[in-house]
Amino acid sequence: MEIASILIYIRLFLSSLLPYLFIKKKTKVSKPRAKLPPGSTGWPYVGETLQLYSQDPNVFFATKQIRYGEIFKTHILGCPCVMLASPEAAKFVLVTHAHLFKPTYPKSKERLIGPSALFFHQGKYHNQIRKLVQGSLSPDTIRELIPDIESIAISALESWADGHIINTFHVMKKLSFQVGILSIFGLLDRNYREKLNENYHILNKGYNSFPTNIPGTAYQKALLARKRLNQILGEIICERKEKRMVEKDLLGRFLKFKDGNGQILTEDQIADNIIGVLFAAQDTTATALTWILKYLHDNRKLLEAVKAEQMAIDQANNGGKKSLTWTQTRNMPLTYKVILESLRMASIISFVFREAIIDVEYKGYLIPKGWKVMPLFRNIHHNPEFFPDPHIFDPSRFEVSPKPNTFIPFGNGVHACPGNELAKLEILILVHHLVTKFRWEVVGSVDGIHYGPFPVPQQGLPARFWQEPTSLKQD
Ligand code: HEM
Repeated sequence: MEIASILIYIRLFLSSLLPYLFIKKKTKVSKPRAKLPPGSTGWPYVGETLQLYSQDPNVFFATKQIRYGEIFKTHILGCPCVMLASPEAAKFVLVTHAHLFKPTYPKSKERLIGPSALFFHQGKYHNQIRKLVQGSLSPDTIRELIPDIESIAISALESWADGHIINTFHVMKKLSFQVGILSIFGLLDRNYREKLNENYHILNKGYNSFPTNIPGTAYQKALLARKRLNQILGEIICERKEKRMVEKDLLGRFLKFKDGNGQILTEDQIADNIIGVLFAAQDTTATALTWILKYLHDNRKLLEAVKAEQMAIDQANNGGKKSLTWTQTRNMPLTYKVILESLRMASIISFVFREAIIDVEYKGYLIPKGWKVMPLFRNIHHNPEFFPDPHIFDPSRFEVSPKPNTFIPFGNGVHACPGNELAKLEILILVHHLVTKFRWEVVGSVDGIHYGPFPVPQQGLPARFWQEPTSLKQD
């Protein structure tokens, strides 16, 4: 009897434990902590930064992909990183799970551009500013800029064509700066343009320099130039307000904006976003233009075919006497494919940075909270599975649309480039006037790449430009 009651007691005790055991068991089986991706994190603190910066970054990333596959870890610039080299992974980070990955930039760079620039943000503020930027760069708005972009392009080309050797990248930077200013302010007073140009140039020089508070350094000069830019932008804003001018350009949209609570943008927010857009627009477009000139120069047959396409348009426009129309710019199929192929080959933005805001699991791998995440656009664009013979420049590959998420020179998802149509329009216009009225010749050894940080042909592609004798006769 005693034994029986003891057994009953034990059973009761065990059954009272059951729910607890069950819960415990459930927790145990639920999600074992996923493992970190394969890869090496190099030396303590410096990680693999030296390897990345002492060799061609293409080689660094490509070698890692061959060794570890499409997801691997590394440690660069003081941060643990997960690198992702597949279209699905890039889509996961930038599109479907974008809310789990915030944009991340070094504080020193944020100080120079201004902390309110849209690309440092996520959520409501980013959305509001992005809509304004997208509106100012929509096809309906930029089509009206064609005549002004043409005159910027023609006067730039004429100024290069005096037989001197010029640094193509530098002159393309000047050109894309002017187009950036046009899309932000419309036709801006020359005095303001010059002051903005001068100070933006100092800012840009300091952006990639070592951040230090020592007076006289490029970084310190850039910080001072950034302050002056705020003053200049303040004057422009004040003038607009006084004249009560309502414009469709970006500044006009910023000044008109009120959120649901009637809140307007502060002058600092406007200034940071103007500098941010200029920054996003200038070096990217200038790099693309420089590569296009190189690829066309190196592919003579292709250049002749592009020239034939553009000459037909030029003739329809009475030898260039009439301005290009929007429809014409949308009907340059070969030139357009040359642009796409150049963006693929050069992959100007080789990767973007994000930071995981919580622990995230992707394909059984853990991306820990706080780690940097880098979708590798260049690896995707150079993967032979998506682009056969990826090292060959072949615009005809774009006769068929690339597979989804395999061609992302302008990014993907909530931060994808709102300026992509303007960039392509600017390139089409420049190429039209270049090949119909000018010739150019690349000078010196031309095959290296300089990373600063965008990949640019060595020495900025030194070249000589001159006007086509036939186009001179027409004048
Ligand atoms: C060939 C030229 C260009 C290339 C290759 C390019 C590429 C890109 C890429 C890859 C991104 C996404 C960055 C990320 O996800 O972190 C981006 C964002 C951006 N781009 Fe461009 N871009 C170009 C030209 C322009 C131009 C001409 C403008 C403006 C006039 C512009 C304005 C912006 C802005 C404002 C963002 C930030 C968007 C956001 O955070 O919501 N870009 N660009």
